[in-house]
Amino acid sequence: MLDFLGTRQRTHTCGELRAADAGTTVTLMGWVNRRRDHGNLIFLDVRDRYGITQIVLDRELSPEAHAKAEQARPEYVVAATGQIRLRGAESVNPKMATGEIEIAATELLILNDSKVPPFSPAEDAIQNEEVRLRYRYLDLRRPEMQRNIEVRHKVTLAVREYLASQGFYEIETPFMTRSTPEGARDYLVPSRVHPGHFYALPQSPQLFKQILMISGLDKYFQIARCFRDEDLRADRQPEFTQIDLEMTFPQQEDIFRVVEGFLKAAFEVTGEKISTPFPRMTYDEAIRLYGIDKPDLRLPPMTDVRDAFSAEELSSLKIEAGLPIIAIVIPGQVEMSNTQRKAFAQEIDRTAGPDLAFLDLRRLEKSPQYAALAQRIDAAAARNCGLAGVEPENRLIVLSPRLGTTAPARDHLWLYKKAGQLRLDLAKRFQDEHGAFTKKGTAGDYKFLWVTDFPFFEWDEETRTWTFAHHPFTSPHEDDLKAGRMESDPEAVRALAYDIVLNGTELGSGSIRIHRQDVQQQIFRALGMSDEEARDRFGFFLEALQYGTPPHGGIALGLDRLVMILAGASSLREVIAFPKTAKAIDLMVNAPTPVSDAQLKELHIRPVLRS
Ligand code: AMO
Repeated sequence: MLDFLGTRQRTHTCGELRAADAGTTVTLMGWVNRRRDHGNLIFLDVRDRYGITQIVLDRELSPEAHAKAEQARPEYVVAATGQIRLRGAESVNPKMATGEIEIAATELLILNDSKVPPFSPAEDAIQNEEVRLRYRYLDLRRPEMQRNIEVRHKVTLAVREYLASQGFYEIETPFMTRSTPEGARDYLVPSRVHPGHFYALPQSPQLFKQILMISGLDKYFQIARCFRDEDLRADRQPEFTQIDLEMTFPQQEDIFRVVEGFLKAAFEVTGEKISTPFPRMTYDEAIRLYGIDKPDLRLPPMTDVRDAFSAEELSSLKIEAGLPIIAIVIPGQVEMSNTQRKAFAQEIDRTAGPDLAFLDLRRLEKSPQYAALAQRIDAAAARNCGLAGVEPENRLIVLSPRLGTTAPARDHLWLYKKAGQLRLDLAKRFQDEHGAFTKKGTAGDYKFLWVTDFPFFEWDEETRTWTFAHHPFTSPHEDDLKAGRMESDPEAVRALAYDIVLNGTELGSGSIRIHRQDVQQQIFRALGMSDEEARDRFGFFLEALQYGTPPHGGIALGLDRLVMILAGASSLREVIAFPKTAKAIDLMVNAPTPVSDAQLKELHIRPVLRS
C-alpha cells in the first residue's frame, strides 16, 4: 500500500545533516539506495541529489514504521520522520558526509514503489551503455552523473555571468532557419505550408551572430544548441551546445582575452586554477612541432634531426636527403622485451606507409658504424625539444623519408602531419600496454594553447578543389589580400582564424570575419561558387553586408567538450543529460521513428525507401 504525502514537507536534504544537528527532528525524502534487514532493526540508506543519509527503523520505537521498512525496496520513494542521533563510535562511516549521524525514524511513508531496476543506481556505471541510455532516468540518479550535471550547470552559469559582466548580451537565434555551411550535413524540417520547402536546423548561429554585429548590438553571446548530421565519435554529438560569441571592432587579442576570462571563471567554479594568458603557436609551428593542429602540450614536441646525418649516412641508410627526419620522444616508456620491440617496430613500419621508414635507434646504437650517429640523433633531439637531455626512461622514435619520397608542392608540412598521425595511431594502440605517448593521471594538468594563422584554403583530395579551412566568412590576412595572393598563390594565404586547444582537444574555433561585400564575393568565387550560387545560398547575407557592416569577429567553444574535460569524462554522453548513440539514436524516447502516412502526406513527402 502506498502512502499519501498529505501536508508533510521535507525539512532537510539527504546530504546536509551533521553531528551538530543531533537531537533535531527532521523529515527527509528520497530514494532507497540500500536496505539492510537485521530483524528488529532495518537500515535504509536514503538518497537524493545532495547525498545519502542512514535511516534506522527500530521495531521497538515504531512498529508501524518498521513494518513499512520491511516492504521498502531499492528505488522506492520514501519519506522518513525522526530524530537525528549520533552513531556509535564503531558505526561511524567516515566515507559518508553524513556518516556521523542517523535518523531514528518514528514514521516512514512509502510514497512510491519501483520495479526492480535493470541496474542499480547505487552501483558504479555498468558496462552496457545501451542499457544506461535506455533507462537514462535511472542512470542520471547515479551520484557520478549528478556530479557531471552539476559541473555543467556551474560552468554554464559562470560563463554567462562573466560574459554579462563584460557587456555581452545573450540573444537567441532561430532553430528553424536556412543552411549555414559548417562542413556537415543539415538536419532538415519540412514545411507543411510551403510544399517542397524545408527549414534547416542551424549547424551554428554563424550568420545570425554576424548580422547582430551589423545591427550594432556590439557584443553577443549565446549558449547555443547546434545540429549537425555528421559521423559521430566520442567527442561529437548530432546536437551539441556551443558557447558562441561575437564582437564588433575586435583585434584577435580582444577575443582571446574574453575567452581566457570566461574559462578562468569556469575552471574556478569547479575548484581549478588556470593561468592566463594562454601560450600561442601558429598553425605552421603546431604542425612542425606536433604534426597536428591541436597539439597536446603535455607531450614533448617532435623534432627534425636531419642535421645529425652526414651525406654518406643518408645514402647508406637509404634516406631521401633534403626532407625532415622526424624524432618523436615517447615519455616514460617502460623497457620492452625484444619481442614487444619487434612488434612495435613492425607496427610503425606498417602504419608509416610508403613514405616514412622507422629507423631503429637501438640497432644503430649497437652497430659500430652508426653508434656515433645514434648519439648525435639523441643529442639533436634533446636540444631541439628543449629538454635537458632525452632521459633514459624516454625513447625516441625516428622516422625518415624513404628514398624517392617527394613532398607535394601543395603541402609543405605533409611529412610532419604524417608523423603526427602516426604518433596518435601508435598512442591508441600502445598507450595502455606501455603508458607511452600520453600522460596518464594528470588530472588538473590543463595545457591550453591558441593556434593561430591557419591556412585559408585546404586542398580537398576528393573533389580536387580548394575548400575553406574554417568557414567561408573568415577573413584572409590583410597583407595576403593586399599582395594579391588570393589569385597568385592561394595556398600561401593565411586566415585570421584561431583555435583554442586543451590537452590535445579542439575546444573552440573562431575568426575575424569578412566585413566587406566585395571581399566576401571574391572568396565565394575563389571557392568555385558562381555569383548565382552565392546569391542563391547567401543572398540575404551579401545584401546585409552592403549596409554598413563593421569589422567583427568571434568564436565558439564546445560546452560539452569543456565540461567533459572538467568532469574527467571520456565521452560527451557522460555530460549531456539526454544524449544520442553513435548511430544518432535516442534510446530512451526511441527516436528517430517512422511517422504515419497521414503526417507525411500533410508534409507533401512521399518516401522512396521504407526501412
Ligand atoms: P566549429 O565548427 O569549429 O566552429 O565549432 C566550434 C566548436 O564546437 C564544438 N563542436 C562539437 N561538439 C560536439 N559535437 C559536435 N558534433 C561538434 N562540432 C563542433 C567543438 C568546436 O571547436 N561558427 C563557428 C565558430 C565561429 O567561427 O565563431 C563554428 O561553429 O568544440
